[in-house]
Amino acid sequence: MSRNSQWGGRFAAGPSAIMQAINASIGFDHKLWRQDIAGSLAHAAMLAHVGIISPADEVAIREGLTAIAARIDAGDFPWDEGLEDIHMNIEARLTQAIGEAGKRLHTARSRNDQVALDVRLWVRDAIDGLTEQLRDVMRALVTRAAAHAATLMPGFTHLQPAQPTTFGHHLLAYVEMLSRDLSRLADCRARLNESPLGAAALCGTGFPIDRHMTAQALGFERPMRNSLDAVAARDFAAEFLFCCAMCQTHLSRLAEEVVIWTNPYFGFVRLSDAFTTGSSIMPQKRNPDAAELVRGKTGRVMGSLVGLLTVLKGLPLTYFKDMQEDKEGIFDAAETLTLTLAATAGMVRDLEPNAARLAEAAGAGFSTATDLADWLVRELKLPFRDAHHVTGRIVARAEQLGRALDDLPLSEMQAIEPRLTQGVFDVLSPAASVASRISYGGTAPANVRRMAQEWQERLG
Ligand code: ARG
Repeated sequence: MSRNSQWGGRFAAGPSAIMQAINASIGFDHKLWRQDIAGSLAHAAMLAHVGIISPADEVAIREGLTAIAARIDAGDFPWDEGLEDIHMNIEARLTQAIGEAGKRLHTARSRNDQVALDVRLWVRDAIDGLTEQLRDVMRALVTRAAAHAATLMPGFTHLQPAQPTTFGHHLLAYVEMLSRDLSRLADCRARLNESPLGAAALCGTGFPIDRHMTAQALGFERPMRNSLDAVAARDFAAEFLFCCAMCQTHLSRLAEEVVIWTNPYFGFVRLSDAFTTGSSIMPQKRNPDAAELVRGKTGRVMGSLVGLLTVLKGLPLTYFKDMQEDKEGIFDAAETLTLTLAATAGMVRDLEPNAARLAEAAGAGFSTATDLADWLVRELKLPFRDAHHVTGRIVARAEQLGRALDDLPLSEMQAIEPRLTQGVFDVLSPAASVASRISYGGTAPANVRRMAQEWQERLG
């Protein structure tokens, strides 16, 4: 084993193979190459600006890094595990290519502030990409919601028929959830947008660097105020992972609905062949695998969040190599969410509700019982508790006779509450039930249309 060209000065021999295997992160942190190069370009420009390196060195560094970026982009860069990580791979190749000037790049910088910078930049880019995708899923939901503002479906609690609602109202509930995921990502982005660069190893540097200049060049609001915090903080990454886990959980709930809805016993929606798979043994099968995987992949995103919190919980200040373990979870969570958002958008655009089946189910299970109780309160001035009891008895009678509420003869109802009149039938159909729920945020089709339109305007 040869000595490490970057830090091998005090060493007589190189690391053992197993040391190299446990230490190297280039196998995954090569994903940070764009951020690493952006950070180095900003750092070099600042070093030249304040006179720490010469303008000629800065030009050589800039050209060298630009050439390296092109090679990496083209898939033509020789990653070397012996050089441990992305930072040393790029710096070593730079020095190989441009000589002396390359060795000056690391002045007033450490891999500790460098990696903290790269990961922040990576997460910031990931947030921007996920934000666009989230908006796309929301648009898909809103489009379907507008088209199905009045399409009846059963609303459930405990997965038992509760009250009639509409397919549009149901989909807009997910739009609300995803809009909170969006705003959580925006909060996370705003909070992480401070630059750790210039904290150096942990205590800052004696060189006359300009941290405000690099912060600005890299699109940060300001440099971080405390150098120890700058290299040790990973709460931004944990917060990002929570945002991902929460969003993934929302997608998982929707995916679970798709699994239920496409079950033939429900028959609420149909997914096209594009989002369905068959069975290798049972020719009749249409499995909602995409939905199942959206749901199933939630576990790994949650795992990344718990994994990072666990890595951090025992770490005193400042940097420890434990922190190298932050990356794979972050990458995996972002990539998983990217894939599952795309799959969700596809499924939402693809799924076709079966309106007749949904309407039938919306009326089943005495789902307008609350409407009957409300009628007794409104028309007969019964206290709600008494109305609830009377309605319960009417439902029991209907069940005994095997009839739906709106199909129960008035005389049967009057046997329980004599003051009931024919007018009650106005509220017993699912359509009447949903139309009546005009309270703000309620399920009435007029509400749903208005909300869908508001969202359409907001999402553009
Ligand atoms: N690859 C390292 C990481 O991801 C970079 C920082 C190394 N710093 C150090 N003091 N060894 O954390």
